Amino acid sequence: MNQLFRRKPIAELLPDSEHSLKRVMGAGDLIMLAIGAVIGAGIFGAIGTAAAGQTDAAGHVVRLGAGPALVFSFLLLGGACALAALCYAELAAMIPQAGSAYAYSYATLGELVAWIIGWDLILEYAVGNVAVAISWGDYFRTLLAGFGLNLPAWISTGYRTALLSSDPAVHGLLDSAPRIAGIPILVNIPAFGIVMVITWLLLRGAKESSTANNIMVAIKLAALALFVFVGATHLHAANFHPFAPNGFSGIHQGAAIVFFAYIGFDAISTAAEETRDPQRNLPIGILGGLAICTAIYVIVGFVLTGMVPYTELAVADPLAKALQLAGFNAVGWIVALGAVVSMSAVLLVFQYGQPRIFFAMARDGLLPQWAAKLHPTRRIPYATTLVTGIVVAVASLVGDAAETYDLTNIGTLFAFALVCTGVLVLRVKEPERPRPFRVPLIWPVALLGTAACLFIMVGLPYQAWERFLVWLGIGLVLYFVYGMTHSRLRR
Ligand code: ALA
Repeated sequence: MNQLFRRKPIAELLPDSEHSLKRVMGAGDLIMLAIGAVIGAGIFGAIGTAAAGQTDAAGHVVRLGAGPALVFSFLLLGGACALAALCYAELAAMIPQAGSAYAYSYATLGELVAWIIGWDLILEYAVGNVAVAISWGDYFRTLLAGFGLNLPAWISTGYRTALLSSDPAVHGLLDSAPRIAGIPILVNIPAFGIVMVITWLLLRGAKESSTANNIMVAIKLAALALFVFVGATHLHAANFHPFAPNGFSGIHQGAAIVFFAYIGFDAISTAAEETRDPQRNLPIGILGGLAICTAIYVIVGFVLTGMVPYTELAVADPLAKALQLAGFNAVGWIVALGAVVSMSAVLLVFQYGQPRIFFAMARDGLLPQWAAKLHPTRRIPYATTLVTGIVVAVASLVGDAAETYDLTNIGTLFAFALVCTGVLVLRVKEPERPRPFRVPLIWPVALLGTAACLFIMVGLPYQAWERFLVWLGIGLVLYFVYGMTHSRLRR
């Protein structure tokens, strides 16, 4: 029992030079990295379902929509994420090491919880990126269509998307697609391709990737600004009635899906070991990035639901659709271009983070040693970067976006809740430890943060809970079969 909860001493968490990453990032890079991670498929895609709700193929309501009250969903999420962000900032500044929530929980809640978090973070990073890559593919197809280039549906639609779709045209692909040995060939080549390109970029090294991210962030901010300025000329008071068609349940369930739009401010904590002066720069990067994104979301949500009736928004590209419905076709196309760039940046940050979590886990002996190998000159975890890229690309080839949003959300909220708890546990257990950044009012912040994350989780459909528990079960088995006996701390 003691072994399961053995904690890694923080002194040991500080990296030695030979096996550690290279420090190249400043506070500005981190804020850009946060915006790069945060603004993507959530605001360009999931926002539509959050406003309009969701029904399945048989017409049953899967989720209630928030309607124009979506702005309250965003504010609720902004508040909850700010609490979690404060806790992340304290831990990230104190434990400036690759591995994010995984590394923090190793120091605070012990090895078993750390393993569970590390395993759980795969849902946030790798599974989340499957959803983003598929959403990227949808927008990419729309863009090409603007040029008169129409990709055949069977090479741009994943098998699961066709299987689950309530749209007869998409579901019908199961019958009309070419077949090999009786199996319909339904693959999403654009989604697969973008993940491979991003992986190649990351293999070239962290600094180059952060420059690419800065350029993409500038483009995404410009696209959203264009949407807001053009959309604001077309607001109609009538669209705000009814304001909250499904009351608080709609706001709550809408928040549970559009939470996806907030995921990512925490991802920059995985860059802690590559950050200069992390004690100062990490809190600035995390909290600054979150504040900027929350403000942008509230404004975009307000303009979107004021432009068109919220019931029109249940589509894959709600921002472009709203502009088209309002008669701004060319602007809709430009915003779609911005969406493609935005999601590329999201993919970049998460494909950057996942290999570093695997790297940290392998360095601790919880994963096989090949995963802890660094490139001799670039000092990046190239083996895990490559493996993550291939697995995510293949899953994007056949997967479905909507199905993966919920799983990503539940996994991430769980990690946030544990981080909020962990920061409090460490305050009680090691009050004397130097804390370069301290959460103000720790008790209310940590407890409210934990409660808020659990509350948002409750807004997710039953199926998400079921899958989440199965995923955790598989992780536990792996820990007892491999991690527990190979742990470096144990040896
Ligand atoms: N927050 C990121 C997005 O919306 C994951 O794409």
